[in-house]
Amino acid sequence: MLKKYLKINIKFFQRPYNANNVNSYIWRLKSHILNKYINPNKKLKIFDYGCGEGSNLLYLSKNYQYDCYGVDTSKSAIKVCKKKKIKNVRLIDNKIEEEDDYFNKKFDLIISTNTLYYFDKYDLQKRLKSFENMLKPNGYVFFTMVSVKSKYFTKCSNRIIDKNSLTKVNYLKDQNFKFKSNYYQYINFVKNEKDLVSKFKIFKKLNVGFYDQSLQDTSDSTHHYTFFGKRR
Ligand SMILES: C[S@@+](CC[C@H](N)C(=O)[O-])C[C@H]1O[C@@H](n2cnc3c(N)ncnc32)[C@H](O)[C@@H]1O
Repeated sequence: MLKKYLKINIKFFQRPYNANNVNSYIWRLKSHILNKYINPNKKLKIFDYGCGEGSNLLYLSKNYQYDCYGVDTSKSAIKVCKKKKIKNVRLIDNKIEEEDDYFNKKFDLIISTNTLYYFDKYDLQKRLKSFENMLKPNGYVFFTMVSVKSKYFTKCSNRIIDKNSLTKVNYLKDQNFKFKSNYYQYINFVKNEKDLVSKFKIFKKLNVGFYDQSLQDTSDSTHHYTFFGKRR
């Protein structure tokens, strides 16, 4: 049976999620990170887990002619991808198995941005194991994870991390949040860089960074860590 937290987190995204533009880390990814590790002329096969409305896929395929694939559990997000005529996207169910392999292909790079923190510590490890199986032998991963420095932890939660590594987040405490239903989620926050590296220890760490989209002050922080790694 599907765990309750997962049902709630997935239901949250069964409505339009406004992310038409790629986040800044994606347009810096090639020049700042990929070019250091991968031949810059190589055409990569990329898988985006939790691709949402397809902004990353569209950007990476248009700008670098990369061969891009993506999945998401949100019907409305996949509908938007189809409207944008993004190829190779699939709606997936919410079961989480180590054996999941959505396209029966091996990838040079797997990305998952702002998505993996919707899993508790057990489901996260299952998901990472499936990524490991979907990577080519020298494949790379790039993930972002929200941290305890963000307002989602400091302002929107009771700051309690349970034994499964989840914290209940109430978005009504965020003045920018407009939904009146499905307004909470369970998030697996990252405490610090050490915790980040430990969560992703199945992969060899190559680069750790962060981003924060706040335009106001630190009390409005959206601090996320970035993790770039390699198949061991
Ligand atoms: C915050 S959005 C991020 C979308 C996109 N990756 C981005 O960076 O703009 C989170 C996405 O994860 C998807 N998602 C949530 N739980 C998921 C799950 N268990 N499996 C796959 N996707 C999931 C949601 O439907 C949503 O599209």
